[in-house]
Amino acid sequence: MIKKLPAAALRPGMHVVDTGLDWTEHPYLYAEEGEIASDAQTKGLIADGYEAAFVDTDRGSYAWNLPKGLRPEQQVRDGVIGEKTGRHKPEIPMAVEIHRAKAVYDESLAFAKDFMTSAAKDGKVDYEAAAGLVEEMLDSVTRNYDALISLTKLKTFDEYTFTHCINVSVLSTAFGNYLGLSHEDLRDLGAAALFHDVGKSLVPPDILNKPGKLTDQEFLIMQKHPERSYRLLREKKGIPKRILRGIVEHHEKFNGAGYPRHLAGEDIHLFARIISVADVYDALTSRRVYKPPMMPSKALTILYGMRGKDFHPGKAETFIKFLGIYPVGSLVRLSNNEHGIVTGSNPDAPLKPSVLVAFDANMKAIPKRQIDLAELPAKESLEISECLDHAQFGVDPGVYLQLAQ
Ligand SMILES: [Fe+2]
Repeated sequence: MIKKLPAAALRPGMHVVDTGLDWTEHPYLYAEEGEIASDAQTKGLIADGYEAAFVDTDRGSYAWNLPKGLRPEQQVRDGVIGEKTGRHKPEIPMAVEIHRAKAVYDESLAFAKDFMTSAAKDGKVDYEAAAGLVEEMLDSVTRNYDALISLTKLKTFDEYTFTHCINVSVLSTAFGNYLGLSHEDLRDLGAAALFHDVGKSLVPPDILNKPGKLTDQEFLIMQKHPERSYRLLREKKGIPKRILRGIVEHHEKFNGAGYPRHLAGEDIHLFARIISVADVYDALTSRRVYKPPMMPSKALTILYGMRGKDFHPGKAETFIKFLGIYPVGSLVRLSNNEHGIVTGSNPDAPLKPSVLVAFDANMKAIPKRQIDLAELPAKESLEISECLDHAQFGVDPGVYLQLAQ
């Protein structure tokens, strides 16, 4: 018999069924086919935001036939876990926060240039100066995380190495905040993310920016960068160990196929797990000398394909929920053929963000109107039918984000 259970009631041995339901429409349904391995797995999937799963009572090793009072789920208190977080409502509107976020972003970028240059020149990193910047990032993320995140895609500098440090730090702290980490955790996570690639300043630029495949020798040099970042930071007195672990483990993979130590599963620090998802997303969506930026929606599909292999179960999925299938700043076509810019994410319904409608079917400007796809009445319901490349249409999303409500 197939039963739907709240996530908190999932016990080791229960067999979860893959319902085949579209994950993007049912983001709170856990549907990895197979037995629940441990209570830790249940805890983990609840922490990742799953609320329910379908189980098959005829499969799995769980003792469904034991008298009710003896079943392990009786020990789980009803309704404690798995509550919905509710629609994400930013404290400050996008149009206001975008200006403050821009100041924080520009200041951070200048700092990244400084520390990368000084690390390359004399092996020194101004770790202490990072604390204030990470605090400012965190403040902005708390007010409206979409604002700072939108800037990670709007800045089209070719200075990838610098922007990448900042983008990964912004994405990691915002994602960590969404996962419910404490302020103190977020401060350390932000610092680890900021410096995760500082060791790349010691990799020769012709290897760093090589368009084609690296030779085995070049790849070995490249793979040394997490340890080099670690060594540069280790010099600092009193630097928390978890910052160092977040840095040195950011290329480790869930399945053990990463580097430098081939760590796997729970042996990889939480900070590194968060940084690695943000790192891959930013790398895919960034412009490089040898490749154009990938559309966020495509990058997220790739990320999803890496779930459970490169990334810990649930991490890629939760990241996509948090960012939305069409991240803020995306140019989208709606089901009525009008076009608009995504101005606010909606983790409760990743396919239904807020959109500033600004163009008709032929991309001609029309009077702008702000809509929230999740809150339209049923008879006016609209969907996103396609994500377009804003550069191809000569649209600067930044202009529209300043007008968003
Ligand atoms: Fe890296």
